[in-house]
Amino acid sequence: MDWGLQNRLSRIIKPDTGKTVMLAVDHGYFLGPTSGLEKPAETIKPLLPYADSLMLTRGVLRTSVPPEADIPIVLRVSGGTSIVGKDLSNEGITTSVKDAIRLNVSAITLSIFVGSDHEKETLLALADLVDKGQKYGIPVLAVTAVGRDMARDAKYLGLCCRIAAEIGAHFVKTYYCDDFESVVNSCPVPLVIAGGKKIPEREALQLAYDAIAHGACGVDMGRNIFQSDNPVGMIRAVRAIVHEKATVEQAFAVYREGK
Ligand code: 5RP
Repeated sequence: MDWGLQNRLSRIIKPDTGKTVMLAVDHGYFLGPTSGLEKPAETIKPLLPYADSLMLTRGVLRTSVPPEADIPIVLRVSGGTSIVGKDLSNEGITTSVKDAIRLNVSAITLSIFVGSDHEKETLLALADLVDKGQKYGIPVLAVTAVGRDMARDAKYLGLCCRIAAEIGAHFVKTYYCDDFESVVNSCPVPLVIAGGKKIPEREALQLAYDAIAHGACGVDMGRNIFQSDNPVGMIRAVRAIVHEKATVEQAFAVYREGK
């Protein structure tokens, strides 16, 4: 791996713990004004000091993050579909690598839809993005998007993560599942987990704990942080688990502190 690419990756996955707390605020790219993200600047501002990186689109980056902010950016460069459209898997690339470089991002990211009608296109888009990322020293995060009909089990997620790594993704975002170790053990690059739909805070902390305990290198959480009744408490609690080896009880106490 070359120096620039490794340097960018180490801004996201912190070298002192080997872990990362990414804050996902890219939901609007297909969901529109998601609950809790209606005004992204207001959502993001109080959470910035506690996030190791922000995952978002260029539109939200330009409008809602101050350029002087010292925060690594993981730029979503795929989209072109919506929740009211015919097929969410029919994504394309929405942002050039040239623009990503202009925006000084630390990584670029896209979704792959393994098993969908557009499996091939999204996997070839990943391959193309990896080629371009390699050329300019920008790591690529592949997101294993799961269609409604797919089982979120270790067999399917292990397949998706391994394919993403084989094509050259530098790290992969997936879902936590039973037998998560087998997904981790068969994927040669680091895995981060999505939080998924909003669930009670203690359960979301348990999810983060289980993922880290079973080999994830971090979380890329969105709704379970910004839709919480205490978003700052929640991200601090997740940090305690990811970076400080806190138990779920200890982390839950952190969440409750600021309430
Ligand atoms: C969709 C994404 C989402 O933006 C991300 O997964 C959302 O995070 P969360 O599920 O924790 O709200 O990448 O493919």
